[in-house]
Parts: sequence; structure tokens; C-alpha cells
Amino acid sequence: MKYFLVCGRLPDFSIAEFEEVNLAYGFATDYKIVNEKLIIFESEHLQESLLKVFHRFGGFVRFGKVYNDLEVENLIELETDQDKFKFGVSSFNPEMHIPEIKKFANNLKKIFKSFGKKTSFVLPKQNFTDLAVGQIAGQRLLEGGLEICLLPDNQFGVSIAIPDIKAFAMRDYEKPYVDKKMGVIPVKLARMMINMAGIKPGQGIWDPFCGSGNILLEALDQGYNAIGTDISRQAINDSTPNIDWYLEATDNKTSLYSLMQYDVVKDDIWNFKKIKSTEFDAVVFEPFMGKPQRRVLNIAQAKELLEETETLFQGVFRDLEHLGRERLRVVCVLPSYKTNKGWVTIKRDRFLAKKWQIIRKDLHWSRDNSIIRRDIYVFELNWNK
Ligand SMILES: C[S@@+](CC[C@H](N)C(=O)[O-])C[C@H]1O[C@@H](n2cnc3c(N)ncnc32)[C@H](O)[C@@H]1O
Repeated sequence: MKYFLVCGRLPDFSIAEFEEVNLAYGFATDYKIVNEKLIIFESEHLQESLLKVFHRFGGFVRFGKVYNDLEVENLIELETDQDKFKFGVSSFNPEMHIPEIKKFANNLKKIFKSFGKKTSFVLPKQNFTDLAVGQIAGQRLLEGGLEICLLPDNQFGVSIAIPDIKAFAMRDYEKPYVDKKMGVIPVKLARMMINMAGIKPGQGIWDPFCGSGNILLEALDQGYNAIGTDISRQAINDSTPNIDWYLEATDNKTSLYSLMQYDVVKDDIWNFKKIKSTEFDAVVFEPFMGKPQRRVLNIAQAKELLEETETLFQGVFRDLEHLGRERLRVVCVLPSYKTNKGWVTIKRDRFLAKKWQIIRKDLHWSRDNSIIRRDIYVFELNWNK
């Protein structure tokens, strides 16, 4: 069967995530990155298990089945038990814009009518050619209705799922404790970074700057194990109830976690030994990046902030080398600051020895007008280098 995935706001993140999850789980026999919004893949796996894979992702907004020729009978078959329903039309074909989408929807409505079905349709909002996830959820199109996606090369898609926005919102906003002063990593970014670690079911991650535990929660939610450490006692005190609350709410009794106070800069041999004896297969983190900045900085201010973060990176990478593990993967945020003379970036050579291979770079996460940019890197320790 052929399926499609629609990328979210940052397609290069979605594609990186797809490639790594596919390497770890091997769900697609073949795939094509059709355009910056769309991946079409072939799979022999059951739809149920592909749906589970889809819900692992942080960077995709749609999962569905591809039909080469969408005979209306196929649709009727999908909707047999309903005589009255709503459908939506989205286009992921750069040649099909709103006029073509409207025409298609009107024709489809007539065809449905000829089969005795009473329908109404939902179209994308102004300036868009695809429905927003909120529209699909709000109109309950995937429960009682239907979303048809116009794809290139006369292909059509019928959507099966959108992200579980309620679950994302729950982890984002309903956690018992959040330390707003420290800054937290966006939940979706945390999820995509974990996926870029390319770990397999039952494996685990270490977050050495766990804060209130966003990265840990995303890992545990995917069924991975997690160890979180942080210099701050408060951070450990916050992430413990956050994790217990989430594991209980989701009835997750299988994922294991441990938390510990640990300063990556200090030579804390006793606690390092404890970390060393814990099993984990990848390291995923966003370091402390200084107090949130409101104004564009000058170069000296940006360099000062970055030097502090470089010290943290030196500490972590020294520890990671001391672990002595083969092919250890690290997915982390490297900060860059906007200055009056352009962007200033952290100096990788201050902490990255030759034995670290760069697997991925050039993934930039920022909002319009933001002063800080998160550059996502994937490194792998290669002792032969
Ligand atoms: C940006 S927060 C991390 C966000 C967090 N990973 C999340 O999931 O939301 C940075 C954290 O780094 C911690 N930190 C700062 N210096 C540290 C050090 N030397 N060793 C370990 N943790 C440190 C802070 O206490 C803070 O909780």
C-alpha cells in the first residue's frame, strides 16, 4: 500500500525525523520526498502499526492513504454507514490552488448526491491550500467525515490521522511544574530531536540539562527509558512529579526513568559513575542558554553568553568521551544570537574533538523576530577517527 505524510512548519526537520525513524523501525520499503510538504511511501505494515509510527512524529500534520484513481465508489465504501456527512479538501499539489480545490469539492458533492448522500464541505482558510489541523479536529472530519487530499500525478489521498493535539497540549501546558525563568524546550522540537537520535524500542536517552523534564516526557511518551540530570535541585524536584503525573495519566507502566542532581562542569566522579552505570543509547539536550534576551545584542554580549554555554558543552562532551561507548549519538541545540552585526554562533571547535562525526547540521529553529536561534546538531562518537 502507498501512504502519504504531510510535513509541518519546518519540512527539513520532518524529513530528518522521517529518515531516522524509518532507519530504526523500518516501516517504509520505499519512499519519495515529493515536494517540501509531502512524503509518499510504500509499506507492507498494517495500517494500525503505521498509525503508531505516525504518532511518534513531532513534525508531521497528516498521515493518509494514497489512491491512484479515486473512484467515488472507494469513498462511498469508506463512508457507507453515513448518509449525511462533511468532507474537506486540501491540496498538496502545487498546481492545484483554491479555484481548482473549490471546483473539485463542488463536483464531489454532486457525485455524493447522485449516490443519495447529503454532504457539505470545508475548504482551507484564506491564503492556504490545505486545511489547518485545528479545522480538521474542530469539524471532526476524520471521525464522521472525510478529508480528501489532492496530490501530484493524479493521485489522491484520504487522511487517516492528524497529530494528537490534545496530548501535545497536555504535556505542554498541564504539567504540574514549569520553571518559566529557565526556559523550556518546545514540546514538538523535543519530540523531533528524540526521533533524530534514531533509537529503537526499549532503548533510552540521557538529558544532562533536564529542567522540568520536557525532553524526558517526550522520550517516555514514546516508550523509551530516560535519565535526567540537572545542576538544580529545584529542576529535579519539578521533573519528578511532572513525570509521575504523565506516566499515571497515560497508564505507562513500562518506561523506566531516573533523575539526579549533577553539574556537568564540576568533576563529580561519584555521580558520574552512577550515570555511567545507567543504560542509555543516545543523549538529547538543550543546554542552559543564559537569561532570555529581549533586545538585539551587540557582538560582545552575544560572545559572553555563548562562552558560558561553551563551558557547559565542554563538560558534557568530556563526560560523553569518558563513557567510552561506541557510536554514541548526541542530538543537541547549539544556540546562535542575533546581533547588530548579524548572527553569532557557538564555536564548535571549543568542545568538539575530531572523534565526533557530524551526522546532521543546518536545522534551524526560530520564530520570526526572535533573537535566539536554536541550531540542531546530531553528532556521533567515532573512536576510529
Ligand atoms: C533550558 S533548560 C533545559 C530545558 C529542558 N531540557 C526541557 O526539557 O525543557 C537548562 C537547564 O540547564 C540547567 N543547568 C545549568 N547549568 C548546568 C550545569 N552546569 N550542569 C547541569 N545542568 C545545568 C539549568 O538548571 C536548567 O534547568
